[in-house]
Amino acid sequence: MSLRKLHDNDKRYAEAFKLFRQISDQEIKMKTWILQDFSKEINSTCLLKINEDIVQMMGIGSGFGKLDMLLFEVIGNMNQKINELVVEPNVVEIEKFKFSVASSVDCSNVTIECIPTTIESYNMTRNTTRKFHFIHCIHVLYYVDNPVEVIKHAFDSLLEGGVLLIIQGAVSHGMTHILNTLGDKMYGNARRHVPNGKDIEEIIQGLGFNYKADVVDAKLDITECFDPNSDKGNLLLDFITNVDNCYERASPDLQNAIYDVFGSDFCFEEDGKTYLKFDFSVIIVTK
Ligand SMILES: C[S@@+](CC[C@H](N)C(=O)[O-])C[C@H]1O[C@@H](n2cnc3c(N)ncnc32)[C@H](O)[C@@H]1O
Repeated sequence: MSLRKLHDNDKRYAEAFKLFRQISDQEIKMKTWILQDFSKEINSTCLLKINEDIVQMMGIGSGFGKLDMLLFEVIGNMNQKINELVVEPNVVEIEKFKFSVASSVDCSNVTIECIPTTIESYNMTRNTTRKFHFIHCIHVLYYVDNPVEVIKHAFDSLLEGGVLLIIQGAVSHGMTHILNTLGDKMYGNARRHVPNGKDIEEIIQGLGFNYKADVVDAKLDITECFDPNSDKGNLLLDFITNVDNCYERASPDLQNAIYDVFGSDFCFEEDGKTYLKFDFSVIIVTK
């Protein structure tokens, strides 16, 4: 029997994602990378070429928009006007993002236009003459039907001199490993391969685009996932497996298979806690 995907339940997905970001060090690692390495890349090497007054930006699966708000600083240098088109299907997250922008003094130069749909459905009817200086796709390509098409459309939507930033779980990312090895048991046989950062690099090479890539390590404390009575542990388990109420609905066999991963090289022990690796690839594509 295939299980319901967590990202089809907007409210629980939003709760699980928020908890995941609170408990893992992924967000702080991404923030550091964006404010230091990416900012240096963009500003000191003039990688991104913007010859207009308003920066045109696009966010694919922006979620709560926390990283978008950091990127506004890096791309707009806090003073340039920015228009961002946000393509995000989760309406709970979109509403939070709109509220954050409206209530932040740092975003007085930013306008966001939110389209509450998937990138696949946006691409089917997109205005191909609308182009962007900067597009990001951060931890989203796990969920799309055809990552190659999403990358191609995004590149086509860039202006000359524009930049596409992709962040995706690295080869050592435990969640991608779980989705790929147990996906058929969780969601049925027709399940597709979930790409890791290396796969995305290969796609980009195959398309002949210029890019630079690196890997940053990150981790998630999954100790509570071993306690069936822990609401936090169960919510994290849902996020990691992308299954809605995994603990209640997954068969004992499937649960054992998940716990086997928690005992594999994708995990490690430190100070009496168990961590799942959440290392991520950062890929900067230039046009
Ligand atoms: C792990 S979250 C990442 C959010 C944000 N980019 C960040 O890193 O903070 C993945 C996001 O992708 C969105 N998403 C899922 N499927 C999508 C699709 N087909 N098209 C666009 N976004 C999608 C989800 O709703 C969710 O907000």
